Amino acid sequence: MKFQTVCIVVIVTIGFAAGHDNTTFPDGFLLGAATASYQIEGGWNADGKGVNIWDTLTHERSIYVEDKYNGDLADDSYNLYMEDVKHLKNMGAQLYRFSISWARILPEGHDYKINEAGIDYYNRLINALLDNGIEPIVTIYHWDLPQKLQDLGGWPNIVLATYNENYARVLFKNFGDRVKLWITFNEPRTFMAAYASDTGMAPSINTPGIGDYLTSRTVLTAHANIYRMYEREFKQQQKGKIGISLWNVWCEPISTNQVDACERYQQFHLGLRAHPIFSESGNYPSVPVKRVDHNSRAEGLTSSRLPKITPEEVNCRTGTYDFLGFNFYTSNLGKRGVTGGIPSKGRDTGAILSQDAEWPESASSWLRVVPWALRKQLNWIANAYGNPPIFVTENGYSDYGGLNDTSRVLYYSEYMKEMLKAIHIDGVNVFGYTAWSLLDNFEWLAGYTERFGVCDVDFDDPNRPRIPKESAKVLTEIFNTRKIPERFLD
Ligand SMILES: *[C@@H]1O[C@H](CO)[C@@H](O)[C@H](O)[C@H]1NC(C)=O
Ligand SMILES: *[C@@H]1O[C@H](CO)[C@@H](O)[C@H](O)[C@H]1NC(C)=O
Repeated sequence: MKFQTVCIVVIVTIGFAAGHDNTTFPDGFLLGAATASYQIEGGWNADGKGVNIWDTLTHERSIYVEDKYNGDLADDSYNLYMEDVKHLKNMGAQLYRFSISWARILPEGHDYKINEAGIDYYNRLINALLDNGIEPIVTIYHWDLPQKLQDLGGWPNIVLATYNENYARVLFKNFGDRVKLWITFNEPRTFMAAYASDTGMAPSINTPGIGDYLTSRTVLTAHANIYRMYEREFKQQQKGKIGISLWNVWCEPISTNQVDACERYQQFHLGLRAHPIFSESGNYPSVPVKRVDHNSRAEGLTSSRLPKITPEEVNCRTGTYDFLGFNFYTSNLGKRGVTGGIPSKGRDTGAILSQDAEWPESASSWLRVVPWALRKQLNWIANAYGNPPIFVTENGYSDYGGLNDTSRVLYYSEYMKEMLKAIHIDGVNVFGYTAWSLLDNFEWLAGYTERFGVCDVDFDDPNRPRIPKESAKVLTEIFNTRKIPERFLD
């Protein structure tokens, strides 16, 4: 395995060294922008859509949201999607990553009742994209679980894997003739944490160290079953590709003798999902299994809080990918140490995290600008999992709004430069990039206080006008020239 990886890296490096500029995107590399249904669509109860867990959280516990707002109208993309397509087209985007709202398609989560108005909406969007030469890349689940399924316990309940597979089948049947790139899940790491705190993301359930690991298991089962189902029922005809979008924060050892703390961090936060799918051996990585087993025993539990995977499941899951979607924003510094409640994933991980005060800040407390970390993280993935095809499905910067977003411009150019080094110099197999985000939108618990869009949206205006920011203009230049402009090179 290691030997193979080295071979691939060497061959690719030699291949690119001949004449390829390190600041140019390779032929065939895909460039575009991304959004998610709850953050932009609005139309929360339009035309038969069911209630989802974000409707419930923002309506019943708006106190959790920074500005107490919700996604009832958001960017009104349910009505204004042609505006979004127009801006993508003007930017020269080759693709648009968006997600489908489960409760808009299946109001109660189950596939016995299909909302035709929801099918029509996504048909209109997909057809408009294709008419304008933009390829759709569709996230099947981006955090907006139908409330009826949360009423059954939500993601910790393994039965959701089956319901999720049934929902995915409805999408393949209705849209798979035109959608060729699918992502099963966006950032399981983030929504598993929604079962580890009652002041967090929806559904905000306080079962740390248990509900989060159960969620992780359901997600792995669902992902693998969807991949296999597509193989059996659709792939031959539709010829699409399926991946999963994982999020991670790079962990830079605070000193050279703290490397093991960051390696553990990688295995807990990325490896728990990536290893069963992308490694040759499958299953969970051994480090988290040992640590959670050990802590569970110490806490007096008879069985481990990390549910085991059967050998049959290991086999079924290994290799269930055509690409790895990867969301990346920032870095931490890491060192050994124990923190967090008993029990909790934080305590199980055994790493204490901080950020370097020298790293430039954004509007988000967790997001500092650390471009070199992207190159390191991409190399970590390539080495750990045999250099799989990687699609950077999210990368972006938050501020408080405004059209002259010079910090965001710098963020994109610097991160893209590091990604291109990973591709050209290190031979990492990255084949696509969608900037987060096309639009200012409902940024979850931050409401509308943090802005990630390359297009400004005026949330005081009921018509929700979109205006391209400086960053949209620079991305337009990059998408069209397919290289980093001279003025951003050192
Ligand atoms: C790309 O970067 C590598 C390593 O820094 C360097 O050896 C090579 O000359 C560069 N290629 C080009 C075309 O600039
Ligand atoms: C944008 O801001 C930068 C500095 O923050 C300034 O140099 C530049 O002139 C501004 N551009 C416009 C179009 O206002």
